[in-house]
Amino acid sequence: MRKSIVAGNWKMNMGLKEGIALFSEISELLKEEVNGDQGVIVCPPFIHISSLAQSLESGDKLQLGAQNCHQSDSGAFTGEVSASMLASAGAAYVIIGHSERRLYFSELNPDLAKKLDVVLKNGIAPIFCIGETLEQRNDGSYFEVIKSQLSEAAFHLAEADFSKLVIAYEPVWAIGTGLTASPEQAQEIHSYIRTLVAEKYNQSLANDLTILYGGSCNPKNASELFAQPDIDGGLIGGASLKARDFVDIIKALDQK
Ligand code: PGA
Repeated sequence: MRKSIVAGNWKMNMGLKEGIALFSEISELLKEEVNGDQGVIVCPPFIHISSLAQSLESGDKLQLGAQNCHQSDSGAFTGEVSASMLASAGAAYVIIGHSERRLYFSELNPDLAKKLDVVLKNGIAPIFCIGETLEQRNDGSYFEVIKSQLSEAAFHLAEADFSKLVIAYEPVWAIGTGLTASPEQAQEIHSYIRTLVAEKYNQSLANDLTILYGGSCNPKNASELFAQPDIDGGLIGGASLKARDFVDIIKALDQK
């Protein structure tokens, strides 16, 4: 069975106090308003994870994720955070290969392949991001870009490991721009991703794979996007910083 998920990516926003307040507001609204079985993940800055983890109660719908990690287990990498540290702090997920990491921190597909390995080894589920730039969308190379991002960073994984991935399709031109992919544009790529996974592994793994859409998703456009057959939820940036908007997006998945 394919799982529906909404994940919030806080990026480099929110001091600890504000983060704790936002997290508890989300938690309260979820308890009051959301009955579906969709997963809800919040990915705050690293230093918030352990505090927020302590506020989780058993049976809580909310889970925690990180936004990145280093590809090594431990060692002399000043300023970096490892997957095992994330697991020990209470993260169940980690975003890998976000386009901002690829662009501003020069992360390439081979680096991401190593990160996926170390994350899986530590029992954390990767939310692996792929997506084309505006230039690649306009010159028609976006299918090739998606294919190489998947095959160079993730297709070395054994079937059992690959099945633990959540994929997020995030067209770079839609992130933080207010320009959302149309439901048809997003559906086209989500269905293509499923085809590639079926070709590489098998149809049943492809059917069970959770594929999120990310890029200016908000309470107004979420229902239309989530109504597409191959869109299983969203990775939400800006709108995840407001509890009301984030929970309204989560509620849009109830209708799926
Ligand atoms: P956005 O960001 O919702 O603000 O466009 C999405 C993301 O970067 O994950």
